[in-house]
Amino acid sequence: MNFPVLLEKLRPQCEAIIAQYEQPRSALLPMIHLFQEHEGYASPEAMRAVAEMLQLSLAVVESTVSFYTLFFRKPVGKYVLQVCRGLACQLNGAEDIHAYFRERLGIGHLQTTADGIFSYEEVECLAACDRATCMQVNLEFVYDLTPQMIDQMLEAMRTGTFEIPPMAQTQEPGPTWIVRQDTQVSHGGKSIGAVDQPNPNNAGGLDKDGVIMLDRIITQEQRFRGRTKERLANVEPSIAAIVDQNGSAH
Ligand code: FES
Repeated sequence: MNFPVLLEKLRPQCEAIIAQYEQPRSALLPMIHLFQEHEGYASPEAMRAVAEMLQLSLAVVESTVSFYTLFFRKPVGKYVLQVCRGLACQLNGAEDIHAYFRERLGIGHLQTTADGIFSYEEVECLAACDRATCMQVNLEFVYDLTPQMIDQMLEAMRTGTFEIPPMAQTQEPGPTWIVRQDTQVSHGGKSIGAVDQPNPNNAGGLDKDGVIMLDRIITQEQRFRGRTKERLANVEPSIAAIVDQNGSAH
């Protein structure tokens, strides 16, 4: 199914999701989940469509999606194995579990097997520390991992009998789902949608005087003052003026 057809199919569901919230932008995460469920990843087309429906900039959608390890911005394997590397899991032998997965799958962190079945990632605490060592398979929890369990689990996934269903896979995955532009200096380390956006990561919106709240905090907070002038050397003259007004740049 091509994307325009999928979009028309999902549009009523998207509208129903938006209607549940006072602020339309609150629908962002559930809408991306919906598209990911059908495409197997959060495609650029899906992010553009969601931005349009919510009247947000593409930069806002991309920066939200890239923040969460629950979203994949490139095609992934049918089973995404996210194994915890948090402290409780480490104390319960996570390192051995990671080594076992890597050896059994023949891949490492953030990689996908050549047959497109498995993607593997070591993630931060999954908030199930009482059942360490643990993981998520296609975002569903699996607890108390042992090598024997891992063998049975991988075998069941290969034969299509595992209790957690495979992800939709509308495109063949590459060797990794890392998005290159995240690390490209030419884009200032920002995603494509953030290029040319004056403030794609607006942390606090505008306050009543039209000043970005984060900048106001920085200019007013005593402990930042010493370095504020230096920091502001290359930014908006209007912000620099606030610093002068407050007599805070020395
Ligand atoms: S440390 Fe693994 S779930 Fe918390």
